[in-house]
Amino acid sequence: MTRVLVFDSGVGGLSVFDAIAAQGLSVRLDYAADTAWLPYGEKPDAALIARAPALLAAAVAQLECDAVVVACNTLSTIALDAIRAALPIPVVGVVPPIKPAAAMTRSGVIGLLATPATVRRAYTDRLIAEHAPDKIVIRYGSSALVQFAEAVVRGDPGAPDAIADAIAGLFGAPRGEEIDVVALACTHFPFLTPTLAAASPRAVAWLDSGAAVARRLATVCALSPGATALGVAAVTDAGAGASLAAAFKRRGFSDLRAFDDRFILRSGWSDLMGVTHS
Ligand code: DGL
Repeated sequence: MTRVLVFDSGVGGLSVFDAIAAQGLSVRLDYAADTAWLPYGEKPDAALIARAPALLAAAVAQLECDAVVVACNTLSTIALDAIRAALPIPVVGVVPPIKPAAAMTRSGVIGLLATPATVRRAYTDRLIAEHAPDKIVIRYGSSALVQFAEAVVRGDPGAPDAIADAIAGLFGAPRGEEIDVVALACTHFPFLTPTLAAASPRAVAWLDSGAAVARRLATVCALSPGATALGVAAVTDAGAGASLAAAFKRRGFSDLRAFDDRFILRSGWSDLMGVTHS
């Protein structure tokens, strides 16, 4: 069975994991999150480029994966080439959904909600120039929204101010009242769609890339219909709490492992679920 590693800085990639699992394909899914470095949207580009390929190469070697899904816009928009160069297997990245948003908007004004890093990336500029040259794209970057999504998925109390701030940042901007589509260019944000929609001044479409990434993976790996099996879930922060372990358990993972982020040197795994639930 094809074994695929889904990777993100935190639980956001679970929105992509869910989209893959929803396809009903014969695939085994592992999940790894670099929680020790969350949020990626606050990290220097060079630091991400230096860290992620080595981290993924070590995880892929340990888990013997056949493909990787980089379920993180912040990483995909800066480090996909470096990751592909470091791995001998197919790597599927996530692309901010600018193209479908441009196809859908009637007003010609699109909101783009992402991390602070993704909104300022040259990659994002190029996507807009290529797919939405005649549209107005209002960008808002927020790490507070990432942290709030982490809390929501874990079932922890979070800081909901991030929602109001993001809504004000988009709809309160010049011509923001004309937004009719919002592109969610961070994999954490689909978990907030109902909350964002409820706080929005009017009904708009909220687009994410999960289903497109899932379809791309199915094509790249030639996956056929069948049962989706779960493999390993692992995080780099060995001090992660019980709520994180519970979030993975809810998705059917039997344990949550920790790998030291120096695991490139000391490649040992420990059973985090056992620790947090003892
Ligand atoms: N989920 C991530 C993304 O798609 C990263 C969030 C973060 O760590 O800042 O951009």
